Amino acid sequence: MFGPEPKCLVVVGAQWGDEGKGKLVDVLAERADVVVRYQGGANAGHTVVIGDSKFILRLIPSGILQPRTICVLGNGVVLDPEALLGEVDALEAQGIATGGRLKVSDRAHLVLPYHKLLDLAEERRQNIGTTKRGIGPAYEDKYGRRGIRVAALRDGAGLEALLAPRIDRANELLDLAGMPERADLAAHRELLSRLAPRILAMATDTGHFLHLALRGGKRVLLEGAQGSLLDVDHGTYPYVTSSNTTAGGAAVGAGIGPTEIGAVLGVVKAYTTRVGNGPLPTAAAAPQEEELRRIGHEFGAVTGRPRRCGWFDAPVVRYAARVNGLTALAVTKLDVLDTFEEIPVGVGYRLGGEVMSEMPADVAVLERVEPVYQTLPGWRASTAQARRMEDLPREARAYLDCLERLGETPIRYVSVGTRRDQIIEV
Ligand code: GDP
Ligand code: IMO
Ligand code: MG
Repeated sequence: MFGPEPKCLVVVGAQWGDEGKGKLVDVLAERADVVVRYQGGANAGHTVVIGDSKFILRLIPSGILQPRTICVLGNGVVLDPEALLGEVDALEAQGIATGGRLKVSDRAHLVLPYHKLLDLAEERRQNIGTTKRGIGPAYEDKYGRRGIRVAALRDGAGLEALLAPRIDRANELLDLAGMPERADLAAHRELLSRLAPRILAMATDTGHFLHLALRGGKRVLLEGAQGSLLDVDHGTYPYVTSSNTTAGGAAVGAGIGPTEIGAVLGVVKAYTTRVGNGPLPTAAAAPQEEELRRIGHEFGAVTGRPRRCGWFDAPVVRYAARVNGLTALAVTKLDVLDTFEEIPVGVGYRLGGEVMSEMPADVAVLERVEPVYQTLPGWRASTAQARRMEDLPREARAYLDCLERLGETPIRYVSVGTRRDQIIEV
């Protein structure tokens, strides 16, 4: 993807998250100078497997595992200071040197303990099945113009003036929701005064940093979190996350101009999964779902929740291709399908005898659609050792051709296992 051009590439999830973005970013970061997270927060769980070690990145870009990459948390991220510093310490303990390689936007909004309490309170009313990491309430504060940004940590007195009214408001909301828990001002003060020096040591105008990097010809990779169908505008609202996960959000959340972005890589699983509530039209029947979950180890990286599993949903990927302007696809977890005799692929949706051509805005409609399937023959052979398309069984190549045709986007990468070398560049 990074040939001589483009210099700036976005990697997005093109389904409901957990597509294998972490693995792809890690592989691509070998040729990147800077890797940037531009939205979301510690709700993400991006897995990178290197040899016998497994790393789960939540806030820190997956590029941190390449020794020379600079990693940036952009202004669009909601930053949980405890989670971030916990992650830094865990990486250091695993032998990954992060010193001087991590930059945090001074415009990023903080996720504080009270946001997590409010997330729990909101889940009682409207069960979205969130990760309970305070993401929604933190973005509510941001757009409600009452958020606390990293820059505010520089001024102790100013911070105090911001914090007290936030805690009062949170306690009013908790009271209204009938929650027994209370947000504690003293505990928030203590937390911030303890963590602020380490956060501030990383804080800078990351938009300016990226501007200079791009001007200097550096290669910048923008790492999306969650998936396109979890985007607050384009996803299965209200069963979405609270940020713009799609490529349009990358420019805003990194603080660069959209004209800097040269390519958008959409990561898709060779099938579909979803964790949390909301429709999953191509959900597999129980025994096959169980099989996909077992072989694909489909349990949430952050919450450990079992992921719902289903077949490849072409309307979803075609839609993601449109709303992101995808220039290429990376298909992951092809190996998980190795043992299936037949593999259904969702090619369209039917509702009351009518075939739908676009994703409906109304989630209740998507709940009612009947997927139309085309069934492809399986290959019943291991793909884990394949390193070129020619190494794949004929049926596996035909399966990928089908995904490419239905997704209306060329496939650039095929991943056949968790390890770095288990990838085919087409
Ligand atoms: P992300 O959130 O998009 O980074 O994805 P997650 O890390 O949450 O989930 C993807 C899971 O699939 C991780 O456990 C990865 O190690 C694993 N994975 C990624 N690519 C492949 C692949 O090609 N084959 C298999 N079997 N597992 C993969
Ligand atoms: P990565 O980056 C999969 C889902 C939650 C819930 C909804 C809202 O690893 O792909 P939130 O806590 O964000 O308010 O929850 O979004 N969700 C994810 N699902 N992968 C993720 O991240 C997710 N981050 C949030 O399960 O349905
Ligand atoms: Mg994940």
